[in-house]
Amino acid sequence: MDFVGNHILSVSQFDRDDIERVFEVADMMRPYAHREVVTRVLEGAILGNMFFEPSTRTRVSFGCAFNLLGGEVRETTEVRASSLAKGESLFDTARVLSGYSDVIVMRHELEGSVQQFAKASRCPVLNAGDGANEHPSQALLDLYTIKRELATHGKTIDGMRITLIGDLKYGRAVHSLVQMLTLYSNIRVSLISAPELALPSRYIDALRLSGHEVIESDRLEDGIAQADILYVTRTQEERFGSQAEADKYKGIYKVNRNIYTEFCEPNTVIMHPLPRDSRENASDLDADLNENPNLAIFRQTDNGVLIRMALFALILDVVGQISRHSRKVNWYTAKRF
Ligand code: NCD
Repeated sequence: MDFVGNHILSVSQFDRDDIERVFEVADMMRPYAHREVVTRVLEGAILGNMFFEPSTRTRVSFGCAFNLLGGEVRETTEVRASSLAKGESLFDTARVLSGYSDVIVMRHELEGSVQQFAKASRCPVLNAGDGANEHPSQALLDLYTIKRELATHGKTIDGMRITLIGDLKYGRAVHSLVQMLTLYSNIRVSLISAPELALPSRYIDALRLSGHEVIESDRLEDGIAQADILYVTRTQEERFGSQAEADKYKGIYKVNRNIYTEFCEPNTVIMHPLPRDSRENASDLDADLNENPNLAIFRQTDNGVLIRMALFALILDVVGQISRHSRKVNWYTAKRF
């Protein structure tokens, strides 16, 4: 695909070479994200960071990624704080804000809303999550993390065994990730969820069509025993009709140290798009795995910055100019990595 000037709305836009290109540029971003070098390549550019649904890491990492390339970030959060609350259409909002920005990142609770917004936008738009539909940058950072984690065990995405756990019906991170997996070969995908929260059949069909083995179960022990990657997700409570309905799924899939030690292979990598629900009785990844070296969740969040820098650099066509606009940092930099 041609990245320059284009929207990123769905992972269906990518083929394997495109994904490799994003990963290659993400690798180049490491010294900038690690604060060894600064670049001003996007000096003067403006990112419109528009989050009409709650977000911590996606919003902040997109913003930091743009800042790390030297650009400025304008934030709009919540429908309440914008003219959408006065009845303004997505069309008008897009027309207006795209006049103020070089690129827009947008999250919205309605499926298809970011695509609708992009149609009216005069600058490139990146989908940071539209309802339960898609979350392309998350899928890219997840796949980048999977690739790197597997490489440390001499494995590749082709031929891997991945287990997806939790709310597979509403989880947009899962939807984008499994769609991307259809580009790879010979993967064993185990899907563990309550039957009502199963992965929609169109994704299962696509996985099978691309030759992958798909196993569905509602028993955690069935799917985690032989896995290279465990991908745990939280119940997407905000997509349920009522809290009582969401509460039915509390506590059923708690991935904790006991379960991991009893059932998983010693090198199984633990991933999660985050946030994990840390409330008592939540159905989620337990904090008692925090010291496990296979816990990759904070490597995922760090990788998010690299992937998002790569997307900006590709879309705004500055990949070849970055190093010319760079210098060593002149402040103390913490060793976070
Ligand atoms: C995910 C999302 O918003 O879809 N979070 C994220 O962006 N990292 C997953 C979630 O909210 O459960």
